[in-house]
Amino acid sequence: MTIAETSTITETSTITITPQSPTIGALIEGVDLREDVRDDVVAEIREALLRWKVLFFRDQDLDPPEHLAFSRKFGELEVHPFAAGHPEHPEVLMISHDAEHPGFENVWHSDVTWRLAPSLGSVLKVSQVPPIGGDTLFADMGAAYDGLPESVKERVDGAVARHDFPGFRRRMKANGATDEQLADFDREYPNPHHPVIRTHPETGRRSINVNAAFTQEIVGWEPETSRAMLDLLQRQAATPEYQCRFRWEPNSIAFWDNRACQHYASSDYHPHTRTAQRVTIIGDEPYFDPDQPVTMTDGSPFKGVVELRAQA
Ligand code: SIN
Repeated sequence: MTIAETSTITETSTITITPQSPTIGALIEGVDLREDVRDDVVAEIREALLRWKVLFFRDQDLDPPEHLAFSRKFGELEVHPFAAGHPEHPEVLMISHDAEHPGFENVWHSDVTWRLAPSLGSVLKVSQVPPIGGDTLFADMGAAYDGLPESVKERVDGAVARHDFPGFRRRMKANGATDEQLADFDREYPNPHHPVIRTHPETGRRSINVNAAFTQEIVGWEPETSRAMLDLLQRQAATPEYQCRFRWEPNSIAFWDNRACQHYASSDYHPHTRTAQRVTIIGDEPYFDPDQPVTMTDGSPFKGVVELRAQA
């Protein structure tokens, strides 16, 4: 276990950035995301995202076109092939749970790692909040990597793992998908191999890149050894010191860097309703580069590097 230094509130000329934990999560105030956000403010938000891995915004009643327009400022958007999209805006993924449809996103994961190029990040708006509960938890997988024993790092740096989508396959089958349709999905989304530890393409930071929802095995390892190592690595996301927890209000937004953190949607509100819309930005193929320096996008040292002290 390692612990990190704390940080303070930062004010730029436009936005206020209030950390929600020592290493992950910041509340952003001073910007209305329904407007055409200026390029310099987008750059500040992007830098805050790299530093804090997930950003929170309150009172942002974005309609789907506004939600899409803000998200597009960070990259091209994806359409989820297995889950329900908005009827007029397929890039808006509808995530709705109620008495008949309990939540199932209560497993630590980063999004769509069954894709060859998993997402850069997602912008999630929760429009209907249950009376209590329904929080989302986020885990800093860079801090989790830093906290691993050196002997474990040596074993997993450079290893690769196979990813798949068994939960989606199960749900599609339960909803009536035929074997032929499932075989088509398997052909279109063949299992990718991703590095177990990835290098962040913008900051150079290393993070744990296996997750409980989608990672199946470490390629080339004995099944028991692979399972034991995946369990150890995936358990790190559940460590409170690496986490922050967001309590939703109607029209709150969470914008996470999918390359740096994992998330878990607490399904503690059944039988109440929780309704969310997610827009997901396409990312790139993960890689591991032991020599990549840790920097900000302008080449300056990454401001998110914390001084870690080993605890006795
Ligand atoms: C997700 O896993 O993308 C959904 C998270 C949430 O509903 O809080």
